[in-house]
Amino acid sequence: MRRAKISIVGAGNVGATTAHWCAAAELGDIVLLDIPQTENMPRGKALDLMQASPIVGFDADIQGTTSYEDTAQSDVVVITAGIPRKPGMSRDDLLSTNAKIVGAVAAEVKRTSPEAILIVVSNPLDAMVQRAWQVSGFPTQRVLGQAGVLDTARYRTFLAMELGVSVEDVSALLMGGHGDTMVPMPTCTAVGGIPIGRLLDPKRLDEIVERTRNGGAEIVSLLKTGSAYYAPAAAVAQMVEAIVRDKKRLIPCAAYCDREYGVGGFFVGVPVILGAGGVERVVEIELTADERSGFDKSVAAVKELVAAMAKLT
Ligand code: NAI
Ligand code: 2OP
Repeated sequence: MRRAKISIVGAGNVGATTAHWCAAAELGDIVLLDIPQTENMPRGKALDLMQASPIVGFDADIQGTTSYEDTAQSDVVVITAGIPRKPGMSRDDLLSTNAKIVGAVAAEVKRTSPEAILIVVSNPLDAMVQRAWQVSGFPTQRVLGQAGVLDTARYRTFLAMELGVSVEDVSALLMGGHGDTMVPMPTCTAVGGIPIGRLLDPKRLDEIVERTRNGGAEIVSLLKTGSAYYAPAAAVAQMVEAIVRDKKRLIPCAAYCDREYGVGGFFVGVPVILGAGGVERVVEIELTADERSGFDKSVAAVKELVAAMAKLT
């Protein structure tokens, strides 16, 4: 059976760690690409990772490169290229630099892997997915962004820590943009099937929701030199797995919503069915009044950012 070809653009912290998780799970052959100025860095990381294969026990060809020709005909392309934030910066401060980078990368992906499914990771996430879609011209089902899997994982982790239970028993959902306005959904949160409201008082739950919203900033303030990468990369690997193994996972991703949730043609975090076709369906659920107003506020913030991006170019 032919192995899937997964290309990862940007061989920095998130890119290289995504390669690591994807290789360990034997999701396919991997190409790790970065800019020519990095010289042999992607080759070094790819070779190092290949040499872990006899120890960990995975079969995968892992190649490092600075040439898009090596990524040709990829099944999945992950875009992590760009700059991460530093303490005191918001994700939105990255807009002008990363819009140029993501636009240039999307043009190369369109040329070399016209049938690929594109997973965007670079920040500010929702605007960067919009940019990758505009430049690639790919069908909306084949362009999506990683945010919801990570944000939901943070929320699930904090809840498991609070309740002293296994993370495996915590299921949850977050919607909206990948920013301070993201919308955790207590009505869709349960532990071992028990609705969260029956296990935790509302005040404590609010504190956990707030910590989730600031989850990225909390890591930035600890690391000081960059942003999170282990959990973000694990989140991307879960999305790659859903696609290459056609798992039909129901997970939150930044997906194109037009009539869905009344968004009107933007990429925002919503629950989707993710499989071999990419975003096979946006799952629409009824929102409570609070969830609706939180979601609308979050969508408005995404639209503002996309409008600011349009003025840059
Ligand atoms: P990093 O600085 O470690 O790596 C970025 C890499 O991109 C560098 O190696 C750089 O040389 C490369 N790069 C820059 N321009 C490029 C181009 N035109 N073509 C190819 N490669 C290029 O940064 P890190 O930590 O890997 O983060 C990458 C991006 O992902 C940042 O924008 C960060 O904010 C975002 N991020 C998003 C998350 C999410 O949940 N959506 C989570 C974590 C990070
Ligand atoms: C995060 O949430 C930086 O967006 C990244 O950690």
